[in-house]
Amino acid sequence: MKAVILSGGFGTRLRPLTINTPKSMVPVLNIPFLEYFIKRLKSHKVSDIALAVSYLAEPIKDYFGDGSRFDVKLSYTVEETPLGTAGAVKNAGGFIDGPTLVFNGDIFTDLDLTAMMENHNQNKAMLTIALTPVEDPTSYGLVETDNRNRILRFLEKPNPDEITTNMINAGTYILEPEVISLIPSQTNCSFERDIFPLLLREKKDVFAYPADCYWIDIGKPENYFQLHYDLLNGKSNQYRFNNGKKKVVTGTHCIIHPSAQITGPAVIGNNCVIGEDVKINGSVVIGSNCQISNNSVVDDSILWNSVHVEPLARIKHTIIANNSHIGSGSTIEEAVLGNNAIIGYGQHVKAGRLVSPNTIVN
Ligand code: GDD
Ligand code: MG
Repeated sequence: MKAVILSGGFGTRLRPLTINTPKSMVPVLNIPFLEYFIKRLKSHKVSDIALAVSYLAEPIKDYFGDGSRFDVKLSYTVEETPLGTAGAVKNAGGFIDGPTLVFNGDIFTDLDLTAMMENHNQNKAMLTIALTPVEDPTSYGLVETDNRNRILRFLEKPNPDEITTNMINAGTYILEPEVISLIPSQTNCSFERDIFPLLLREKKDVFAYPADCYWIDIGKPENYFQLHYDLLNGKSNQYRFNNGKKKVVTGTHCIIHPSAQITGPAVIGNNCVIGEDVKINGSVVIGSNCQISNNSVVDDSILWNSVHVEPLARIKHTIIANNSHIGSGSTIEEAVLGNNAIIGYGQHVKAGRLVSPNTIVN
């Protein structure tokens, strides 16, 4: 089966990280998010993949190219301006010649795609939507089914008083080409708000595939964090620390001072320098070419590449994007810093602050 991955949204809720980096390319344990996706498809023998891109397409194309490095065939369908989830798939219509998997490109899940494909065929469905349980469906698409998994109702972003189930659209679909013929060309169109309700009104064969496996949408900073914690703590079967034996994984050419304490679970990239009496506590990811200078403390945080932390800084539950610089003695808590942010000497960056790329805080 072929696959289309929707990778063209603005990633608004993940700003400032997604101002220069498309959501699909944000690093997860130092590997671009989309790489996990492509490897998972490959493991289910899905290797003909179209990426529906729009906003910030170049970094995706530069990294993945024609897919040969990952032993898959990748093509790109480009929207000049984003056409919405269904509009993007219509735009990829030339690629679709049979039942096709469609993915929201910001989901990390262990969903068994092979079983879902079998289930779609058995049901002779026109559309199958994977479902997952969540605590609060208000940020998602709520899906009501009957006891044979026929979908009765789809309600995108329900109000709290509209919640009738905890099962939501998990952002993975299998659709027959007939669904594509219902989507208008070159028009902004949403599966969730337009096409799914239309198919249900017309009583088409729309089935759910409920799955209770690891699932997360990385579209918000707290979820992006959560994915790291979950992977570092063995919650998904797509990543294992050396079979669970080693708590700190370090890349090549790192210089770590013997007095530095790293509790783990932590992943550290290549060419990093960790100074004297540095403390790295809890779940931490540090990219390549980073320097954490003497007596600094990093707790439960994610640092991308080439981040320079001067001495005596304290960083807690914070995401710091590429090439940022943290001045000595500064404290940063629960913040998100875009690329090339500069925090001066002795600053206090307050909880909840989002620092735009190329901003100087002093
Ligand atoms: N190519 C393209 N063009 N991709 C798009 C566009 C577009 O115009 N708009 C959104 N996307 C991509 C996003 O990049 C993302 O990968 C995916 O489509 C879903 O968009 P989000 O903006 O992340 O939607 P959401 O998280 O609020 O809700 C969706 O996902 C939930 C599951 O996480 C809906 O499908 C919900 O029903 C669902 O429950
Ligand atoms: Mg999303």
